[in-house]
Amino acid sequence: MPHDIEYTLSESAKVLQNANLIKKYHANLVYDYTEYPTKGHWSENFSDIDYKNAITEWFPKNKTKPVLFYVHTPFCEQLCNFCLCSKEITQDYERVKEYLYKYLSKELDLLEDHLIKNKINFNFKEIYFGGGSPTYYREEEFKFLINRIKKFINFDNLGDFTVEVDPRRVNEERLIFYHEMGVNRLSFGIQDFDPGVQEEINRPQPPEMVDKLLTKKVRKLFPVINFDLLIGLPRQNIETITKTINSVVELKPSQLQTMYVHYKPGTRKYMIKMVRNEPMLDFFDRKAVFQKASELLIKSGYTRAGFESYSLPEDPLTKSMVEKKAVYNSLGTQKGEATNFIAVGSSAHGVLNDQFYFQNYYEQPLYRKALDEDRFPIYRGLKMTEDDTIRREVIRHIRTFFNIEFGYFTKKYSKKFTNYFDEELNRLKVFEKDNLLKLSDNNIILTPLGEHFSPQIANVFDIYNDQKFYKKII
Ligand SMILES: C[S@@+](CC[C@H](N)C(=O)[O-])C[C@H]1O[C@@H](n2cnc3c(N)ncnc32)[C@H](O)[C@@H]1O
Ligand code: SF4
Repeated sequence: MPHDIEYTLSESAKVLQNANLIKKYHANLVYDYTEYPTKGHWSENFSDIDYKNAITEWFPKNKTKPVLFYVHTPFCEQLCNFCLCSKEITQDYERVKEYLYKYLSKELDLLEDHLIKNKINFNFKEIYFGGGSPTYYREEEFKFLINRIKKFINFDNLGDFTVEVDPRRVNEERLIFYHEMGVNRLSFGIQDFDPGVQEEINRPQPPEMVDKLLTKKVRKLFPVINFDLLIGLPRQNIETITKTINSVVELKPSQLQTMYVHYKPGTRKYMIKMVRNEPMLDFFDRKAVFQKASELLIKSGYTRAGFESYSLPEDPLTKSMVEKKAVYNSLGTQKGEATNFIAVGSSAHGVLNDQFYFQNYYEQPLYRKALDEDRFPIYRGLKMTEDDTIRREVIRHIRTFFNIEFGYFTKKYSKKFTNYFDEELNRLKVFEKDNLLKLSDNNIILTPLGEHFSPQIANVFDIYNDQKFYKKII
């Protein structure tokens, strides 16, 4: 286990003996610190010129830093009622083609021009195709996209190349085609295998469908396979999650993300369809379902890789957790090789450590309009301060490794941790009283019970979000 307090399943399970504690710490955490400062604090005054300047300013000092190239495909064939991702539902493939050939290509042209003009040659180490559903592209369009990005990305230099896969839209042949195109890691949207849950979320997808895809050949071509699961969906209970996890264990993905579902009907009205028959799980039941999934996974040989992730011992993520290199970001817990992102496509966001965040427009009309006007479609961004960088790393350590070694931060940032975070350490005493963490002169270690509340503990170090959880619990 990646922490120093001996982890026992029974210690972690004690959370279920204390409903009051779960209730006290329950909060609808929409900011789960995939970024810090969280997106709501990025400036809408950050323009395409700021974006270009950010790249030219960052590159000369970071020439060899690994960069991940993210490509967003904002289309899906069918709506999943839980979905918070940025996508448009369409059956019109011409619309998908238009996006690719007219707009995404234009954005790639702008990017390539800017890189050439300024003699910028990023060390692109990873590629990630996310969505929406990148599996929407047929082979011809997929090939076009690959050939287009090959103009400025050297595929011989690549480590991971991931595609998010909607299992309902591919077959073995398609997965082999992806491999021929250079893809070597697959991330499957699974969510839940229970037929009742699938009915509520409008995502029929039996385990047999996934089993049929994961043939011997496919497993050989893709040694790292990730499954996304969701916790807190209507009609999930201990029995259904047990069956789902048993099916998952049989399918043996090397990595898993078991994310608490965010319910945001205010911004995604269709989400209420998900609760037409049964409510979302309450604060206690979602914890119980999460705990059950966690226990079953650990008993089946998975190790925990951060708050909502698991990996098999031989998976590279496990090693990166032991070496404390793993990083949690919008793509889940990643092994931490390329943590700088250059991103294209509507809604896509990038980061150049430790200086800039930036994001494209979500809305298709705004994304397209900017490109029609030869501008990068930048919606917002942020120039980070040193304080942002330090706090981001503290938050990541809490959420991923469940501990903080003061010496590491004191050495890395030349600031004595205990002085710099004097106030925060004081606030953590409330959590200590509830046996969620142990404070010493050298470190903070979350207890197995406290791991359940790591996002809330991380919030103590967030100076932008007004200490919401802390104020709630004191
Ligand atoms: C952008 S989707 C892409 C995957 C692909 N389109 C599919 O569904 O198979 C990536 C992941 O985001 C997660 N996700 C979507 N909506 C969510 C929500 N409301 N709360 C938490 N995670 C969510 C899902 O687990 C999903 O697999
Ligand atoms: S979960 Fe995936 S397939 Fe479903 S609507 Fe969202 S992006 Fe599309």
